[in-house]
Amino acid sequence: MLRALSISAVAAAAAIGVAFAAGEGGHVEDYPFSFDSPVGAYDMSAVQRGYQVYAEVCASCHAVEHLAYRHLGEEGGPFAAYMVRNHETGEEEMVVRKPEHGGRFVDVTENPYVRAIAQAATISDIDPNTGQPVDRPGRISDKFLPPFPNEIAARAGNGGAYPPDLSVIVLARHGGADYVRALLLGYTMEMDGDLLVNTAFPGGRIAMPPPLTDGRVTYSDGTEATVEQQANDVATFLQWAADPHMEQRKRTGLVVLAFLAVLSGLLYLAYKQVWRGESH
Ligand code: HEC
Repeated sequence: MLRALSISAVAAAAAIGVAFAAGEGGHVEDYPFSFDSPVGAYDMSAVQRGYQVYAEVCASCHAVEHLAYRHLGEEGGPFAAYMVRNHETGEEEMVVRKPEHGGRFVDVTENPYVRAIAQAATISDIDPNTGQPVDRPGRISDKFLPPFPNEIAARAGNGGAYPPDLSVIVLARHGGADYVRALLLGYTMEMDGDLLVNTAFPGGRIAMPPPLTDGRVTYSDGTEATVEQQANDVATFLQWAADPHMEQRKRTGLVVLAFLAVLSGLLYLAYKQVWRGESH
C-alpha cells in the first residue's frame, strides 16, 4: 500500500515536471544588471539605448503614463545635460552625460535634447483663445503620448489583448527587469491557436507578437543591436522609469548605515565607561 502510494507520488511529480518542461511559462533567468547590488547604479548608456527601443518599438502599443518628457532630462535621467569646459579650447560645451568632476547641470527647460524629443510628439489640446480642439507640438511638461486614447481602442488594435502600461511594469511583475528581459527573449517559434508560445510568460502563451529582431533599431552609439542587447537595454530603461531616484536612495541608505555604525560604536564605548569597575 505504502509502496504503491510512494510510486504514484513519484509518477505525479514526474508528470508535473514534464508539464513544466513542455512550456508552461514562468521561466525567468537571473541576469546581472548593473543596478542589482545594494550599491549598483544605472548604466546610463543602456538607459539611453533602452529609451530608443521603447520609443521606436514598444511605444506603438504600450503607454508609459507616469513619465513626462522632462523626466528624461532631470538629474539622474538618461538625457540630463551638463556644461563642461573643454580643456583644449577653453570653451564651455554641453554633454549628455554626468562628467566625472564638476560640470554644471543644465536645467531641463534649457535642455535641447529633451525639447526636441517633446516637440516631435503631436498633442491634442484645446486652444486657450478659441476653445477649439487643436494639435500642437509637445512641451517638456507633457506626459509621454500614449499610442491609444483608451483601453477599448488598445484592445481593438491588438486582437482583444491589452498591452499594459509599462511605466511601473518592473514593480508590478515578479522578477522585475529580469522578467521583462526574459519575456522578450522567451519566444519559441511555436504558435498555439492565435497565441505565441513564450517560456517566460506565466501560462506560456502570449498575445504580443515578438517585438524585437536583430537590428530592429540602429543605435546612435554604435552598439550592435542584437535581440538580447535590445532586451537588456529596454529592461534597464523600464527599471529606470519605475524607479528614477534609485541611486539617490541607495546613497542615502549608505549614509544612514554609516551613521548607525558610528553611533553603535559610541554607545558601546559609553556603556563600557559607565559600567567600568562594576561587576555584573
Ligand atoms: C504590436 C503591439 C505590441 C508591441 C510593439 C509591443 N507589445 Fe508588449 N504587449 C502587447 C500585448 C497585446 C500584450 C498583452 C499580451 C497578453 O496579455 O497576452 C503585451 C504585453 C507586454 C508585457 C506584459 C506581460 C505581462 O506580464 O502581462 C510586457 C512587459 C511587454 N508587453 C513589453 C513590451 C516591450 C518591452 C516592448 C518593446 C520592445 C513591447 N512590449 C512591444 C503588444 C505589444
